[in-house]
Amino acid sequence: MGNSRIIESNQTGLHDNLESTVRRHLAHPFRAPYADHSLALFDALKAWKEADGRPLVLDSCCGVGESTANLARRHPEAIVLGLDKSAARVEKHDHYKAESDNYRVVRGNLNDLWRLMVADGWAPTHHYLLYPNPWPKSSHLQRRWHGGPLFPSLLALGGQLELRSNWRLYLEEFQAALALAGHKGEFAPLPDAAPLTPFERKYGESGQPLHRLVCDLTKKS
Ligand SMILES: C[S@@+](CC[C@H](N)C(=O)[O-])C[C@H]1O[C@@H](n2cnc3c(N)ncnc32)[C@H](O)[C@@H]1O
Repeated sequence: MGNSRIIESNQTGLHDNLESTVRRHLAHPFRAPYADHSLALFDALKAWKEADGRPLVLDSCCGVGESTANLARRHPEAIVLGLDKSAARVEKHDHYKAESDNYRVVRGNLNDLWRLMVADGWAPTHHYLLYPNPWPKSSHLQRRWHGGPLFPSLLALGGQLELRSNWRLYLEEFQAALALAGHKGEFAPLPDAAPLTPFERKYGESGQPLHRLVCDLTKKS
């Protein structure tokens, strides 16, 4: 049995400022300048994607990329791109490597890369966001993906979106934020399969309930 701590938060329900925060971000595009290294990385990723030509699956916040390798096996018809800003995590990927060559695990910052992808018309068929940092303090709402300025870019990427978390409230807020943007997110049971990621394994071994939210971003309700 693992002993991962259950998320503790001073929030008991959806954040009071969720709606106003999400509406503000939906109304105002995020205009922070791109880092030079993100622009260079984006050009390299674009060349990889165009040279291959298969549909794209995104694994955002992929950590060590165990999920990316698993998703590459699950999506042999596609190329899978795992992105994480932590060099320490990405550098551990060799340990989790799959034999398939239809994927990459790359260090990169989604704050720039999602916007660059949207601007260039990328349309992943599937987008996985597995165990994002929860930022459970209520003062950290804007650090959660649905409370931050990148939320419209995440929506604009489209595809079949899947989030997983050990903090149900994160996904309930995400679902409410999706609804504000006209999308329907639905809770779905986790498949009865081996853990997709190290965090999923760690939380599962600690007996924590795990939650999964899916949304077809190609549809508006
Ligand atoms: C809790 S870990 C989960 C990692 C992995 N999905 C798993 O389940 O094992 C969250 C990850 O999000 C990454 N992350 C957070 N903000 C990011 C950003 N702006 N760009 C890229 N990665 C980011 C962190 O570096 C961290 O590895």
